[in-house]
Amino acid sequence: MKNDEKTIADLTRGDFPILSQKFDNEKSIIYLDHAATSQKPIKVIEALTNYYSENNANVHRGAHELSRRATDAFEQAREITSKFINAPESKEIIFTRNATEAINLVARSWGESKLKPGDEVLLSVMEHHSNLIPWQLIAERTGCILKYVGINQDGELDIEDLKQKISKKTRLLSIVHISNTLGCCNPIKEIAKIVHNVGGLILVDACQSLAHQKIDVQDLKIDFLAGSSHKLCGPTGIGFLWAREDLLNQMPPFLGGGEMIQDVSLEKSSWADLPHKFEAGTPAIGEAIAMGKALQYLQSIGLNQIQTWERVLTKHLWGKLSDIDGVKIIGPKPKKEKSRGALATFYIPGIHANDISALLDSSGIYIRSGHHCCQPLHKLYGIKASARASLSFTSTIEEINEFAKELSSCINFLKENS
Ligand code: ALA
Repeated sequence: MKNDEKTIADLTRGDFPILSQKFDNEKSIIYLDHAATSQKPIKVIEALTNYYSENNANVHRGAHELSRRATDAFEQAREITSKFINAPESKEIIFTRNATEAINLVARSWGESKLKPGDEVLLSVMEHHSNLIPWQLIAERTGCILKYVGINQDGELDIEDLKQKISKKTRLLSIVHISNTLGCCNPIKEIAKIVHNVGGLILVDACQSLAHQKIDVQDLKIDFLAGSSHKLCGPTGIGFLWAREDLLNQMPPFLGGGEMIQDVSLEKSSWADLPHKFEAGTPAIGEAIAMGKALQYLQSIGLNQIQTWERVLTKHLWGKLSDIDGVKIIGPKPKKEKSRGALATFYIPGIHANDISALLDSSGIYIRSGHHCCQPLHKLYGIKASARASLSFTSTIEEINEFAKELSSCINFLKENS
């Protein structure tokens, strides 16, 4: 890149009002917690306001103008979501509260109706609690057995271990695409083939990948995908499940109530067609519409362009962290030929991650500390907590430099005062 060439960050930062906030009335805040939740561009904020000020009405329930407008915009958001992941049909998109609810939907509906005692569900040790607990609950209800694929020395999925643990008893592999802690990007296409060869299904938790690279569910040949709007520059309170139509048709409803029915009598009821069978009650209408705007916004920047810029940033972040004495990074080193999450998780022996985060906070630099909802993974590394800096296309080299400089002084301060 030439020095005078504008980066994606230069071109997009102005779209995010929150990023121009000043710390101590002086320098801009440095937000490096995008993996926890992304910031929202003005177009998304306006979409929410416009919906509530111009079109607010319930969907699929009224024969009046406002309801028609709300329903059209809501269904258009479904269409946009389906195109975003190249789903064959928009009715395969089920709006949920978040990705956690999408995974719970599969566990409760598919899992409870299909799993028998002795059937196996394969997970990995790097899963977020949202992809562990629903399966632990279902194992208790159905008697199915949970098995966990390990990681290798580099902090990547151990494919050999996966091949050993998978068998004809494996009914489902539920796995994260990009780990929110290790940052590794699991080879989903290759894994899907292995799972399908034994007759199993694959669910992909794409929370940390959807905003960072192009995802095509048909190309990946997967069966279920869970996504969350707030990680995609959209509002909180809305996410989605994509599943193959034939699977959704076989699955019983997850929640019962209004909107998901065809005919109701006091004795027995029948269910609405897809996608409504899985959308009981009034949905998060404005949020779904704003999520649609967020997806269009990401597409207008270009997922490939985002990925290219974030690769540059991640490599720089990794280099800067590696240069600081005492910092131990977990997860694979960025490599040219491999996709990787735009984040780095690290710990400093003898210093609690929360102290690092608190000191950085006092300089207007915001990172995440804790177990990142991955307690089993932290136990594997023999640590209780870690610190994580996570990036987005709005992040800059200067922000990373400032973060590394401040981190270095925090560590020195804490060592001197311990
Ligand atoms: N899953 C989110 C994170 O990694 C909340 O921070």
